Amino acid sequence: MREKSETTSRVLGVVLSGATTKQAIAQLTEHGEKIVNEGMLVGIQLWGSERLAIARVEKLRIESDIFKPGDAWSELRRESLDALTMLESVSSPYVTAVLNIIGLAGEPGLPPLPRPPKPGDKVVELPRDPSLLFGIDENRPGVIWYGDIYGYQGLPVPLDVENITMHVGVFGETGSGKSYGVGYLLELLSQIPLGNGKTAALPMIVIDANGDYLDYHHVFVTRGSLGALHKVIRFVTPRSRLRSTPFTREIKISLDFFTPREAAEIIMMYKTGGLDINEMQVSALDRVISELTEEGYTITELLTNEINLVYERLEELSRGRDAPIHHQTARAIRSALDKFYREVYKQHGILSTEPTFTGELIDDITRNPSMLIVDFSADGAPGVPLQVKQLIVAYIARLLYEKFTRYKVDGDERYLLLIIEEAQNYAPNLRNYPIGMSIARDYLALIATQGRKFGISLLLVSQRPAFVDPVVLSMTNTWIIHRVAPDDVHYIARAVGGLPEDLEKRLTSLPRGVAVIAGQMNMIGHPVLVRVGKRKVSHRMGMTRVVETLRRLYSGRNGD
Ligand SMILES: Nc1ncnc2c1ncn2[C@@H]1O[C@H](COP(=O)(O)OP(=O)(O)OP(=O)(O)O)[C@@H](O)[C@H]1O
Ligand SMILES: [Mg+2]
Repeated sequence: MREKSETTSRVLGVVLSGATTKQAIAQLTEHGEKIVNEGMLVGIQLWGSERLAIARVEKLRIESDIFKPGDAWSELRRESLDALTMLESVSSPYVTAVLNIIGLAGEPGLPPLPRPPKPGDKVVELPRDPSLLFGIDENRPGVIWYGDIYGYQGLPVPLDVENITMHVGVFGETGSGKSYGVGYLLELLSQIPLGNGKTAALPMIVIDANGDYLDYHHVFVTRGSLGALHKVIRFVTPRSRLRSTPFTREIKISLDFFTPREAAEIIMMYKTGGLDINEMQVSALDRVISELTEEGYTITELLTNEINLVYERLEELSRGRDAPIHHQTARAIRSALDKFYREVYKQHGILSTEPTFTGELIDDITRNPSMLIVDFSADGAPGVPLQVKQLIVAYIARLLYEKFTRYKVDGDERYLLLIIEEAQNYAPNLRNYPIGMSIARDYLALIATQGRKFGISLLLVSQRPAFVDPVVLSMTNTWIIHRVAPDDVHYIARAVGGLPEDLEKRLTSLPRGVAVIAGQMNMIGHPVLVRVGKRKVSHRMGMTRVVETLRRLYSGRNGD
C-alpha cells in the first residue's frame, strides 16, 4: 500500500464558505494555480475525519479586489498607464474553483457525503492508489485499467470486464480518437488479469471499416503473438490481392443459415437498397426458394451453381393467366436475382457452397481466444460496395446468433466481443439515415436485445450515434464519448442516460484522445474524464500524410 494521501499530495486549495454536499467553492493555493485544470478531479480532505471527498473542477475564476468594474480606481485606470502599473503591483489576483462533489473516496460507487465540507477544508491531489480512492484493489481479477484520469498520470479508470456483456458504445466526431482508443481497449481485453499473474484474452471479431486494426494483424504475423490471443486472422474478400498472405483468409459466406423467407428478403433488399421492399415479390421468391429447398437443394446452391433452377421455377410459376406469381412480379424478382447473382457471387465471390467463415470457426475462436479482423478497407475489400459488406455483417451476426443460441442450449458458456466500426452503416436508424439493407440491423438488434448472459458483447463505434438504430443504441450500457459536434451533444447525453452538466458542456471541446467514460463497466460509478492510454501497437491507418505526399509528388520537379 502506498503512503496516505495527506503526505503524498500537496495542497491545491482551501474550501470557502457556503459549500453543500454537492458543490463547493475553493480558493487555490499558488501550487494549485499551476496545476489545476477545469475538468480535473481533486480530493477534499474532510475536516474532523480521515475521509476524502472526490470532486471535479467545473470552473476556474480569477478574481482581484482592485480590478472590480466600477470600483474607486476606474477613472485612474482610464487616464494613467503609470497608475495601472501601480495597481497591478498591489492587486493580488487569486483563483477560485467551482468543485462539483462526486462522492466519498474509498468505496466502490463513491457514496454521497454525509455533510458538506467546512470552510478551510483542504483541496488536494488524488492519491494514486486505486484502493484508497475507489476501494478497488489494483490486482483484482477481471478488472482492466483504462488510460489515465484526466490530470493524473498513472491513475487509470478501473473497468469491469464482466459488464462488457451489456454492450459498449464509442462515439465522437472524425479524428477525435475513437479507433485509437478502441485499439487500446482491445489491447487491454487481450490481456485480462485473472489473478496469480495469469491473463486471458476475450475472443473478438472486428468489422474493420477502414483498416484501423490491421496493425494488430501485422504485429501478430511478425512477432507470432499478441497478448493472450491465440491467433489474429485477417479476412479479405476473394478478389483482394492480399488473400494469400500469412494468417489471411478469403471471406466466403453461405446463405444456408437463413430461412427461405429471409433469403428472399435479402435478395429483394439487395436490389432496392432495402428501402421499399415489396411484400408480394418477397413472398413469391420465398415460395420459389422454399419449393426448391424442399426438393433438396441448399439456398446457397440455388443462388450460385443452380441459379437456372430458380429462374426456371420462377418462369413456371408465372406462366399463363392463372399463374400464382404475376408476370410483373416475376420480372422484378428475376432482375433482383440477376443482380444478386452477378455481383455477390460472380463479381465479388462472396457467396460459396464452401464458406470459410463458419460455425466451426466460431467454435474455434471462442475456445482458443482469437481475434478475427474483417478487413473492409480498400485493400481488403477492393471495389466491394456497402451493400455487400452489409450482407457479410448480416451473415456474421446471424451466424453468431445461431451459434450462441446453440451454446446456450448445450449449457456451453462462451463469450465473444463483436466490434463494429461505422456502426451506423450496419445498424442504421432508417428514420434519418436511409442507407438501406436493414437485414444486418435486424440481426444486430436481435443480438443486442438478448441480455447479458447470451455471451455476445457488442462494441459499436460511430461518428454519429443519431444515425444508429435506436433499439441497438438503447441496449448499450457503457459509453466512451470523445469530442462531439455541438449538434450531437444533446442526443448523446440523452442516449447515455444523462451526464453531469459540466461534463456535457465539455464534450464539444475535448482534445483528441480525451474522452468521458460512463456506464456499467466504469467501476468508479460516475462518469469521468479520461486520457486514453498509449497503445503498445502503433496506429498507422489513422494517420494522414498530406504534406509528405505532396512533397513526394513534387520531388524532382521544382527547378530540376
Ligand atoms: N490517444 C491518442 N494518442 C496518440 N494518437 C492518437 C490518440 N488518439 C488518436 N490519435 C491519432 O489521431 C488520429 C485520429 O484518431 P482516430 O483515427 O482514432 O480517430 P477516429 O475518431 O477514429 O476518426 P474517424 O471517425 O475518422 O475514424 C490517428 O492518427 C490516431 O492515431
Ligand atoms: Mg476511426
